[in-house]
Amino acid sequence: MFITFEGPEGSGKTSQLPALVDYLEGLGFQVVSTREPGGTAISDQIREVLTSMKNQELHPRTEILLFLAARAQLVEQVIKPALQAGKIVFCDRYGDSTLAYQGYGHGLDLTILRQMLDFATDHLQPDLTLFLDLDVEIGLARKKKASEWNRLDAYALAFHKRVREGYHQLIAEEPERWVTVDATQDMKTVQANLRKTILKKLKSTHLLP
Ligand code: TYD
Repeated sequence: MFITFEGPEGSGKTSQLPALVDYLEGLGFQVVSTREPGGTAISDQIREVLTSMKNQELHPRTEILLFLAARAQLVEQVIKPALQAGKIVFCDRYGDSTLAYQGYGHGLDLTILRQMLDFATDHLQPDLTLFLDLDVEIGLARKKKASEWNRLDAYALAFHKRVREGYHQLIAEEPERWVTVDATQDMKTVQANLRKTILKKLKSTHLLP
């Protein structure tokens, strides 16, 4: 079971993940949790280039190639082996981030992006994608307050609004893969919703009775 987490900036995905892992491990599942860009030694080095405030001149085409390079390495080194071993894999951002940020945000051609994604991931698609949704202004304010500001957050507000709208578009195209959770709710309620959604999915695929 391959589960990805998506959302605009400051949606709290990263804070919710550890408790979800603990919960599923408590139910007896083996879980691997990773994040993008990053998750392997090589991908973490690429992440540095992508997020560093000093790389202001990074071109959108360079940016996409770096995201995809980080992802290809993560898929081969971490995600595929874990899935083959029967584990549940959680990934904090995946291909949909590329479509939302580089496609809808920067306006790069979506058809080409999808082909590049297929190449980078060797066609590996998530079974379930959890979308933590919230207003862009609220999310960016949360991140600034937490001092987690990076080069990508610093893109204009209009960019982040296009990203969120892009996600809504992606969900409309493939509603059976996505579940949206309202990320303006308190942490406990969001966690409870995420657990409920994952349990339902595990039951529907008979991984749980
Ligand atoms: P990060 O600090 O991990 O943000 P978050 O906690 O919101 O995931 O930074 C990742 C940034 O990279 C985030 O701004 C989204 C962006 N991103 C893309 O633009 N394209 C991609 O394909 C991926 C995976 C991430």
